Amino acid sequence: MSFEPQKINGKFKGKDIISFEQFSPKDISIIFKLVPKMRKIGYNAKPSDVLKGKIVTLLFYEPSSRTFGSFGASVKQLGGQTLDIQNPQVFSSVSKGESLEDTIRVFEAYCDAIVLRHSVAGTAKIAASAAKYVPIINAGDGIGEHPTQTLLDLCTINDKEGRLDNLTGVMTGDLLYGRTVHSLLRALSMYKNNTVYLLSPKELRLSKEDYAKVSNLGVKLVEIDSDKDIPKNLDFWYWTRVQKERFSSLAVYEKLKLKFVMTPKLVEEKAGKNTILMHPLPRVGEIDPAIDSDPRAVYLSSQVRNGMYVRMALLDLILNG
Ligand code: CP
Repeated sequence: MSFEPQKINGKFKGKDIISFEQFSPKDISIIFKLVPKMRKIGYNAKPSDVLKGKIVTLLFYEPSSRTFGSFGASVKQLGGQTLDIQNPQVFSSVSKGESLEDTIRVFEAYCDAIVLRHSVAGTAKIAASAAKYVPIINAGDGIGEHPTQTLLDLCTINDKEGRLDNLTGVMTGDLLYGRTVHSLLRALSMYKNNTVYLLSPKELRLSKEDYAKVSNLGVKLVEIDSDKDIPKNLDFWYWTRVQKERFSSLAVYEKLKLKFVMTPKLVEEKAGKNTILMHPLPRVGEIDPAIDSDPRAVYLSSQVRNGMYVRMALLDLILNG
C-alpha cells in the first residue's frame, strides 16, 4: 500500500491521525496548550459549542472502555454528537461480509471524522487510504500503535515532571505486543536524553526491530530481567498488562501474565517520592489495588482524565483547525 499519513507540521485540520511518527514536539505542544481550556470545559456544567453541528463516528471492532468512553465524552463535552458503532462484526453489515473499505466509505457520508479501533495492525492506515472526505483517527490497531493514548501519557508525564526530556523510566509487561509501549517509546525518542529500562518476560521483549528503531532514534534502552534491577527514583513507571487476546496458547499466557506485579513492597523499595506510577489500563492483576491510594499512582486519576482533555484538544484541532 502506498498510502502514508501526512506529517502534522503544525497544521491539524482534516488530517488523519494514524501513527505517532506524524507528530513533532511542536505539534505536541500545540495540543498541550489547548488542554487547560479543555479542562475548564470539562469542569463546566454545560457543553461548549466547539464541535456544534459535528458528528464523529466511533467505529470500534475491538472492545474498549477508556478510548471509546473518552472519545465519546470529548465530542459531547464540545457540543458535538457521536455515531456509536461497537462490535460492527455483529451489529452492522460487516456481519454480512461488508469490507472495511466499504464500511468506511459509507460512514464517512454520515459524519465529520471516524475514530477507528481494530484488532489488526495497519488497519487504520487502510481505512485512511479508503476514506475520501473525512479524517480517520487511530484508536488502537492490534499490536501496531495507539497515538492518542501516547498523547495522554505524555501529557501526564509533562504535567507531573514539567518536561519530556532528561527522563528516566521503566516499562514493564508486554513489550512485544503492547501498542501503547510502541507509541510511547517512539514519542520519547523525539526528546533528548531519555532512558527507559525494559522489564518483561523474555518471550515478550520488545522485538529486535523495534529495539533497533527506537534506540537509533536516540532513547537509551536498557533491558533488565528482574524487578530487583529497577533503579531507584526513576521519573516514571509504565506498567502494562500481558494481553490474553494476543496469545494462541492459553497455557503460555497463564505462565507469563503475572511475572511482574507492582506491589506496595516494590514501590516502597524502588520508587522515589516523585515517581509517577502509570498504566494505560485495563489492569488484570499486575498492579496491587493497595497502591491505588498512593498519591504517586495516576492510572485511575489524572492519566484517565487527561485522556479526555487531549482528545478534546485533538478533535478541536482536526475538525476546526
Ligand atoms: N488504554 C486503553 O486503550 O483502554 P481501552 O482498551 O479500554 O480503550
